[in-house]
Amino acid sequence: MSETIDSLLHEKRHFAPPPNFVAQANVSDPSIYEAAEPDYEGFWANWAAKLDWFEPWSQVLDWQPPYAKWFLGGKINACHNCVDRHVSAGLGGKTAILFEGEPGDVRAITYAELQAQVSKTANALKALGVKKGDIVCIYMPMVAELAIAMLACARIGAAHSVVFGGFSAEALRERINDGGAVAVITADGGWRRGKIVELKKTVDEAIQDCPSVKKVLILKRTNQPQDYSWVEGRDCWWSDIVDNQSEDCPCEPMDSEDLLFTLYTSGSTGKPKGIIHTTGGYLTGTFATFQWVFDIKPNDIYWCTADCGWITGHSYVVYGPLANGATVLMYEGAPDTPDKDRFWRIVENHKVTILYTAPTAIRAFMKWGDEYPAQCDLSSLRLLGSVGEPINPEAWVWYWQHIGGGHCPVVDTWWQTETGSILITPLPGITVCKPGSASRPFPGVRAEVYSEDGRALEGAHGGYLVLTRPWPAMLRGIFNDPDRYVQQYWSRFPGVYFTGDGVKRDENGDLWLLGRVDDVMNVAGHRISTMEVESALVDHPAVAEAAVIGKAHDVKGQAISAFVLLRAGHEHDNIVSELKEHVAKVIGAIARPDDVFICGDLPKTRSGKIMRRLLRDVAEGRALGDTTTLADPGVVSSLRNQYEHLEA
Ligand code: WT7
Repeated sequence: MSETIDSLLHEKRHFAPPPNFVAQANVSDPSIYEAAEPDYEGFWANWAAKLDWFEPWSQVLDWQPPYAKWFLGGKINACHNCVDRHVSAGLGGKTAILFEGEPGDVRAITYAELQAQVSKTANALKALGVKKGDIVCIYMPMVAELAIAMLACARIGAAHSVVFGGFSAEALRERINDGGAVAVITADGGWRRGKIVELKKTVDEAIQDCPSVKKVLILKRTNQPQDYSWVEGRDCWWSDIVDNQSEDCPCEPMDSEDLLFTLYTSGSTGKPKGIIHTTGGYLTGTFATFQWVFDIKPNDIYWCTADCGWITGHSYVVYGPLANGATVLMYEGAPDTPDKDRFWRIVENHKVTILYTAPTAIRAFMKWGDEYPAQCDLSSLRLLGSVGEPINPEAWVWYWQHIGGGHCPVVDTWWQTETGSILITPLPGITVCKPGSASRPFPGVRAEVYSEDGRALEGAHGGYLVLTRPWPAMLRGIFNDPDRYVQQYWSRFPGVYFTGDGVKRDENGDLWLLGRVDDVMNVAGHRISTMEVESALVDHPAVAEAAVIGKAHDVKGQAISAFVLLRAGHEHDNIVSELKEHVAKVIGAIARPDDVFICGDLPKTRSGKIMRRLLRDVAEGRALGDTTTLADPGVVSSLRNQYEHLEA
């Protein structure tokens, strides 16, 4: 990471928006920033007013830090705004979702068809006993029915809790039980690198201990023989119940502050947090940012490569784009199946105009070679986006040149599961972009750079990124854990939202995100806490103690390195691979450590705290930082000797 940060801070290249882009941009007048400043509530209220409300709000904002309510008294339905509204406006024949499966199956679903499908699915959920206010867990491959399931929940006022299909049975169980989901929507499996991800089987394993789950709705996606079980009365095929439902299902009027969904993300402890998002504000935030940041036009084919299991999929595959009546492409599988040009074939075949992906993917493409994008026609592209982690300037410029052909603006968008919508970003018709800088807060948003002791730093300075004003899509809390909400986000600097990120502001006021300052890792754009991996490791009978760090990795951004102390008598030849598999089983493949280093001792301070900073120095092969506070300075040098020996 440190190398990335150095190159970031010496980056001097500037990329002005191309004049022909500016000429057609949704926003090209920089005065929108100043205009939003004096009255940010009014700014957001103008956006909210562009949505359909069953009943208007009586108050825009009730802000009693750290608790915000937006559009109080307003009644709205997210599904209505993403689907029915467009059909009523005559867009029924427009493609809403363009789906491509990994095996190559393609399906275009119009807004009118989406309305019918979502209504049938919503009626099926009702028939299964799901009611307004219930929580429904969705554990599916990245297929159109995943978006349909989310919208169906929103339609009847049930909250969804989507769990990424790569998570393990244990991780799924923990999330289901925390929320108390009454039903699970899944599939027999999904396709990934030509193989089946056995989702139904994992659900079976997970819900053995989920007393709240009464029904499981299963989409037949792969239709291949698999050895999942079947529980009569609980399990139900999608085709058996959804297909014969009525296409008529009215949208439930929801209070603006009613729960739209929870989504689990990693914090700095071992337990994932169920982030709470409500209806009116979240929809307003994703709707507005999508329109301005992605400059959406009626004929765009927009593709966000994120899975709906993450917030990016919620906000910028489903709610933001569909609230704008856009055509969204969804792709089920891997970027290198059948070959490393899969993404570029998709862009070429579907004439994708806007592409939104992650730096880790861009770095993988760079590594695979320029020939893959070069052999495809990418001339339909007009705008590129990046999200999930800091983008190194080299990757930014490669993206701009080899994917954008040197004529597409690149928007580096900073936000979080908690923020719900993009908060720091260029606007493609206005901002002069600097590779590696997410530039500045979206209009109406206020971000500041704080010192260690909580002073707002003016001018060119590095520090902690905080948000000092509420915004409509902000999280409303942590499910089942109100104290953690206050403690986690609002206590480091009382009264302001602490993002957990480090940042530097340059002489022009542009912000350069520097990565997490807490014990959260960012591995290939996935957020994983060191403690989560540590507790998975110590859960193994052979492990006495474990310390986990994120070490710099040229494609993934960070890779997981674990330092493990074994219990006496548990050393054996396969222990390293056994422990890696164990973590993958407990959390999911995304958390499988790259290195597991069996060591004799861990570097600790005299008060017994593990010094992660030193482990990072060892793992990244750097000169050791300050070791004066160590209880036993010899531990690190012996660790280093062993580690170097192992790497060689
Ligand atoms: C963390 C949030 C929200 C999208 C997916 C990730 C990092 C996200 C950027 C960016 C630098 C970024 C931050 C943030 N991050 N986007 N453009 N530049 N860092 O959501 O899993 O909630 O992770 O991702 O560290 O805190 P998430």
